[in-house]
Amino acid sequence: MAATDPLASMDDGTRAALDVPSDLLAIDPEAMRRLGYSIVDRVVEHMASIGDQRAISEEEPARLRALIGGPAPVTPSPIADDLGLLADVVLRNQQHGDHPRYFARVPGPSSYPAVLGEWLATGMQSVASSWGGGSGPTAVEIIACEWLRDAIGLAPTCEAVLLSGGSMANITGAITARHLRGEGVIYLTDQTHASINRGLLAMGQPAEAIRSLPPDEHYRLSASTLRAAMAEDRSRGLRPLMVVATAGTTNTGAVDDLPSIADICDEYGAWLHVDGAYGGPAALCERGRAVMPGLERADSFVVDPHKWLFQPYDIACLFVREPGALERTFAMYPEYLADVTGSEVDLHNRSLELTRRGRGIKLWLTLRAYGLDTIGRAIDRGIGLAEYAQLVIEADPNLEIVTPAQLGIITFAARGRTDRDHSLAAARLTADGYAAVTSTVLSGRTVLRLCIINPATTTADLDGTIERLSAYLA
Ligand SMILES: Cc1ncc(COP(=O)(O)O)c(C=O)c1O
Repeated sequence: MAATDPLASMDDGTRAALDVPSDLLAIDPEAMRRLGYSIVDRVVEHMASIGDQRAISEEEPARLRALIGGPAPVTPSPIADDLGLLADVVLRNQQHGDHPRYFARVPGPSSYPAVLGEWLATGMQSVASSWGGGSGPTAVEIIACEWLRDAIGLAPTCEAVLLSGGSMANITGAITARHLRGEGVIYLTDQTHASINRGLLAMGQPAEAIRSLPPDEHYRLSASTLRAAMAEDRSRGLRPLMVVATAGTTNTGAVDDLPSIADICDEYGAWLHVDGAYGGPAALCERGRAVMPGLERADSFVVDPHKWLFQPYDIACLFVREPGALERTFAMYPEYLADVTGSEVDLHNRSLELTRRGRGIKLWLTLRAYGLDTIGRAIDRGIGLAEYAQLVIEADPNLEIVTPAQLGIITFAARGRTDRDHSLAAARLTADGYAAVTSTVLSGRTVLRLCIINPATTTADLDGTIERLSAYLA
């Protein structure tokens, strides 16, 4: 039979689309190596000299536009030049959460093994959506999360999924609780991370079914206030659905009384969600574990490895104690995925993400590269550095402690100074570039706050930071 040429039957436009080289986007392997090695050099240089750089930099919007904007590129530009522009302009103008004197908000001290894992995973287009489509990245995610679960001391039945950050992980836990248990009242405090209230409203939780309870004098969720609020709701015919407790609040590092809260949850049949996005990794060292009893009683728990587990952004981990709960909440079975779904764990059925990269790869490599002992010691160093900062502040007659060092966070203030003085002092030091610090508000008072979780931070870094702040407030 005579073969017909399919190309001959195509219209001109379609034929023209095919009439380009199949290696249109390919780059010569030697050039690829050269460009890649230049990036390795850049990153190693960044990591080796970060302490000599500014902790945070910001550029004028117009200047940034002038440097990196212009009309959309139609023709090619040299990649090496643009990589330089990205490194020198784009990536320089940001907060450097990996800087040893970055104490603002929550730092993000990264680590080289994690960066290597991320690079490799990106370079090989990792995908951890279904077992059939990504058994390796799926397995690595599950294993890394199991290691973390056991090291933190969560219930052994916990299953996990990695998400982009604490905001998404917490809300994925809340959606799971409400899907499995039905509607009801959710309890938190004004120290609960703001993203949770936002997420609850976004998932359709009525504002009148969210109780923001006043915390106790240590900024913790008070067990007696919680019990009274639940009793009152029940007496009004309302159903307590979920309590959001925190293991390491963003403001002060406070840990809620989890055993008492878990008892109350048992009594009322409520789901206990624990936000350990910030503080959870502290359970990897003895001193941290000692202040967080009861983690194993959480129905769901969140920890963000991109905060205190030395990972590049982004990675957060949600654990849910009841096996299969995540799948019961999020599973979907479209026809076109049938070939890759259903044999083992399909991580796209554990959250709202379908296409998802292998976030577990960098975490797995980090845990292997250092081992849990070293990681625990690096975390313990942060706890110790905050305690050192407390001693330095206590020795300064100009300053007073507002909340003591807790899980790497300390808050303090200058005697007799106004709220504005404190915000200005934080802004001045940050603008100076020596360190980045933030103020926060506790019981209506603006105070200074240091979050000290970078193991590369030295006591001299803390001396220099506190000395400068004290001088601004003298
Ligand atoms: C305790 C706590 N929960 C949740 C979040 C939100 O995490 P993310 O910024 O990764 O979404 C944060 C962020 O700082 C946090 O400290």
